[in-house]
Parts: sequence; C-alpha cells; structure tokens
Amino acid sequence: MPKVLIHATGLKKHYQLTKTNAVHALRGVNIDVFEGDFSAIIGPSGCGKSTLLHILGLLDTPDEGQYTLDGIDVMKMKEREANVIRAKKLGFIFQGFNLIPTLTAKENVMQAGKYGGMNLKQRKARAEELLELMNLHDRMDHKPNELSGGQQQRVAIARALVNKPAIILADEPTGELDSATSLEIIELLKKLNRENNQTFLMVTHNMEVANACKKTIQLKDGLNA
Ligand SMILES: Nc1ncnc2c1ncn2[C@@H]1O[C@H](COP(=O)(O)OP(=O)(O)OP(=O)(O)O)[C@@H](O)[C@H]1O
Ligand SMILES: [Mg+2]
Repeated sequence: MPKVLIHATGLKKHYQLTKTNAVHALRGVNIDVFEGDFSAIIGPSGCGKSTLLHILGLLDTPDEGQYTLDGIDVMKMKEREANVIRAKKLGFIFQGFNLIPTLTAKENVMQAGKYGGMNLKQRKARAEELLELMNLHDRMDHKPNELSGGQQQRVAIARALVNKPAIILADEPTGELDSATSLEIIELLKKLNRENNQTFLMVTHNMEVANACKKTIQLKDGLNA
C-alpha cells in the first residue's frame, strides 16, 4: 500500500460577503492522496476546486476539518511553521505561470531553491539540472517575456521541482496553453510521475487532462460528488 501523503476530512470553508450573505465554498470535503498518485480534481466552475487546492497547499485555512500532510497534523500549526512545511513538502504550478518577470529562467528556479535551504552553488546546479531536464538548456538566461507559454510553464515546473517536494499541486496547469502545448505539458508531468514517482494533484476543467490522470476526485457544490 503506498504511503498516504494527504489525508483530509470534513473540510469546510465559507466566504462571508456581507453580514447576511455567505458563500459556502466547501461543505465537508474528504480527500486522500497517495505517493505516486497522478490525480485530478474536477467539477463545474465554482464548485470549490481552487479553494480546496489552496487549503491543501497551506495557502489558506479551512473553517473546519482535519488535514494531515505527510504524517504532519497541519491544522494545529502556526503560520510560520506552515510556511516551512509548504516550502519543504509542496511545489506549485499555476495557470498563469507566475514567474518573476525581471528574473531569467535560471534565476526564477534558483530563487525558489532559497526556501529549501540550498546554498548559491547548489541552487545554481539544481536549476541547471532541472532546466536541462525540461529541455530548456538553451533558454536558461531568457526572461519570461522572451519565452513561449509552453516554455514558461516548463520553467514553472522546474521551479516546482527544485526542493524535491512530496507533492506538486497544480491549478489548471494547461489553462493558458493551446491544445498541442497542453498535451506536451501533460506528457512531461506524466513522465515525472512515471520515472521519478513524483506525486501530482491538479485541478482541471480540461477533460483531456482529466482523462490523462490515473484518478479523479469529483466535486459538486462544495462536496465530494
Ligand atoms: N475570496 C473569495 N471571496 C468570496 N467568494 C469566493 C472567494 N473565492 C472563491 N469564492 C466563491 O467560492 C466558490 C468556490 O470558488 P472556487 O474558486 O474554489 O471555485 P472553482 O471550482 O475553482 O471554480 P473555477 O472552475 O471557475 O476556477 C465560488 O462560488 C466562488 O465565487
Ligand atoms: Mg478555480
């Protein structure tokens, strides 16, 4: 039986808009993610996918529920501890790539390595190794605006991998890419899953992406469907 990396139960989250008007984004969601999983969270717009991913990514806190990340009860943590766990255990890929525009591809990846406790030399070597793995050996010194969408997302994948995270969380990783480039990115993620047993949990609207996943977690109106 593979190791449980994410075990969360009864997650609830509401957004209070006015005194009398609240959105119940999550109404008691359960989710388990095992080592080696390549899973998609799917469901209609507004069903709570991004809210769930943000909570699992320690970027937001639920109102209620239990959450254990790689054996650690993260519900009881202070923000500072959560920041350390996030940097050590998690990598993130976003729809809009979220690269720092003033830094080169290599510098973007190196910067993320700072939070994993690597020194400058180690960060440089790790960034070069990962950008080579992403087939970007000839684009290391390019700034994001000098790269195509697919290339930018490959830099973001290298950045997500830099601290050897237990899990990579991705919110619509192919959302801004054309369909050929989307497939290329998904193939790359699948390869990382297959060859390095890298665990992925991604949110997607795209049925082609969802079909490429080994498991799907379906949400509806803030609940497991
Ligand atoms: N910061 C916020 N303030 C108020 N309401 C919010 C906030 N963030 C999300 N919501 C609401 O919570 C619900 C869930 O939002 P969420 O972003 O998780 O949906 P989603 O499944 O990711 O949707 P999409 O597929 O469109 O990205 C929605 O009804 C949304 O309007
Ligand atoms: Mg969303």
